[in-house]
Amino acid sequence: MEKVTRTHARERISELKKELNFHNHNYYVLNAPVISDFEYDILMQELQGLEKKFPELITPDSPSQKVGSDLDASSAGADTEFAQVAHKYPMLSLGNTYNRGELIDFNQRIAKTVSQPYTFSCELKFDGTAICLTYIDGKLSRALTRGDGTKGDDVTRNVLKIKTIPTILHGSDIPEEFEIRGEIFMPYKDFDRLNAERLEDEEAPFANPRNAASGSLKLLNPSLMAERGLDCVLYHIIGDNLPFKTHIEAIEAACRWGLPVSEYSKKAYSIEEALEYIDVWDEKRKFLPFATDGIVIKVNELDLQKQLGFTSKSPRWATAFKFKPEQALTPLLSIDYQVGRTGAITPVANLEPVQLSGTVVKRASLHNKDQMDMLDIHIGDYVYVEKGGEIIPKITAVEVSKRPQSATIPAFPVICPDCGTPLVRDEDQAKHYCPNYEHCPTQIKSKFIHFVSRKAMDILAGEATINMLYNKGYIKDLPDLYKLTGEQLLTLDGWKRKSADNFLASIERSKSVPFERVLFALGIRYIGETTAKMLSLHFKNIDNLRVATKEDLLQVDEIGETMADSMAEYFKDAAHIDTIEQLRNFGLHFEINESAIGKLSDNLGGAVIVITGVFSVSREEMKHLIDAHGGKNAGSISGNTTYLIAGDKSGPEKIKKAEKLGTTVLTEQQFYELIKK
Ligand code: IVH
Repeated sequence: MEKVTRTHARERISELKKELNFHNHNYYVLNAPVISDFEYDILMQELQGLEKKFPELITPDSPSQKVGSDLDASSAGADTEFAQVAHKYPMLSLGNTYNRGELIDFNQRIAKTVSQPYTFSCELKFDGTAICLTYIDGKLSRALTRGDGTKGDDVTRNVLKIKTIPTILHGSDIPEEFEIRGEIFMPYKDFDRLNAERLEDEEAPFANPRNAASGSLKLLNPSLMAERGLDCVLYHIIGDNLPFKTHIEAIEAACRWGLPVSEYSKKAYSIEEALEYIDVWDEKRKFLPFATDGIVIKVNELDLQKQLGFTSKSPRWATAFKFKPEQALTPLLSIDYQVGRTGAITPVANLEPVQLSGTVVKRASLHNKDQMDMLDIHIGDYVYVEKGGEIIPKITAVEVSKRPQSATIPAFPVICPDCGTPLVRDEDQAKHYCPNYEHCPTQIKSKFIHFVSRKAMDILAGEATINMLYNKGYIKDLPDLYKLTGEQLLTLDGWKRKSADNFLASIERSKSVPFERVLFALGIRYIGETTAKMLSLHFKNIDNLRVATKEDLLQVDEIGETMADSMAEYFKDAAHIDTIEQLRNFGLHFEINESAIGKLSDNLGGAVIVITGVFSVSREEMKHLIDAHGGKNAGSISGNTTYLIAGDKSGPEKIKKAEKLGTTVLTEQQFYELIKK
């Protein structure tokens, strides 16, 4: 019997390891989890349970023995965008539970080990991404992500842009060197704004503020990151010979020195008091302006923390109590299939209105057909809805036991709900599209609404005006906007001479909108505001962009395969080329204004330059300097590379290759001398 059980356990452990590793990768590296934390924790608990029964089956590579890794796969190679740096002290995780009884057990374990009275620090568990800051002589010297717990990505450049993190501390009792760890998080308001922008640009929204925070912290361009509104809270000081007796004392000192610490922590004199803190915050957290996913309870006395020590993964002196995500159960009434600006079809559920986290929810996104199939959703089903900070709540499960007999399987449309064109499926994105982008009314109108929007051409027209212009037959292709006459405008409902003049003036003004916004305004699938900016800076004009190969496009920061393919697809269509030509003839900018980006010299005379390693300025700034002095930045070394500029921690492979090809290798300093000449 025992043998069979062990065989089963071995098989199940192997399955669970694979599954958990898959979810770790989605969570830590891709910032796009496909299951909830709760579901993840259930799998982890099953693995831990089996490993406890059969300790001989525990292997060091088991996810139960390791801290998940946020190290970027692309940065694990020789030429890293973020340098990886070893942690001085390992950066561990916390044990967690959803069960109050296990907190009593946690307390009993402590009571058994220590023989003197102890207190707890009860804290909110901030739902962001862990950060480790090192201060030397009161100055911020380095910021590392958790990474795999032993080494992290050096994100100092980005962290310097977070306003609440001081670069210099104030006070007379600041230790010479110490580390302080905490969480970088994105407040709900910034998260909502970011996701609204991403949805507008048809970019996949972040699943929750935590993924948005870790994704933003890993952006290669610090200025872009600065726009994301990240915030920070610090909760753990470490160092050699620190003068504190308790954790709370240490955090109070950090606060005096100017570091951001939580204002919601509380000292508890017993586990019962800690449980009361949990009850209070399980309710109150719903009104906080940022996401929390639980409570952390820490033994407050630092000598006792030392005595209790660590397991391989987490401290024995602290644990987390996690809140279950708030859910509501409500019937699914029907499903609408919405056509997006670039033809993507999104199923949206209409629900019996239900109260959830302070608002009434009537609609929820079902994302795509795969999601509907995975949920096995039926019209009439009772469905679980969760918010978790998202703008549009999502359906996480179906309560099959409540399925009425009359429930029906929804038929995903095979033709566009608007124009009737057969839909096509984009396998990579799991999305269905209406391919009739030239004639599908919803797509045409959305294309105009996007084109005139504030961040694009900023023309004085909203959805209603675009609908009227379209219905009158005045606009079909983008250039038609520039052909509109005052007489035509006066035929629109409620329009007078003044509104027509204002509109025409805004059309005129739009002709001076810079190239990057014109490129964004074209509404190319997956090309959002940021990507358009990066592309225009890199390629300078639409003609270079049009002939760029996929490889060329992939050289640009933030441009991935999907975007590169989408650009190529766009330029393949003769109608798009015609649109661009007509718009250019109307005077729109299709090239970057060199003086605006600061053309400084032509000292580099078209030299093709590759950079590697870390510089005293950001990599993006290096690339701008190359551009501004007449050089061309390339991503990889080839026969036509003129210079390789090697910064700190350069990729040895690149240097070897440069030497082999006879490419001149310059230091950062030599490069500055070259451009100064
Ligand atoms: S203490 C050695 N305190 O939650 C353990 N962690 O799931 C130090 N977290 O790794 C961590 N709020 O990234 C601590 N008040 C808090 C926290 C907190 C959020 C994060 C942290 C930790 C993770 C565990």
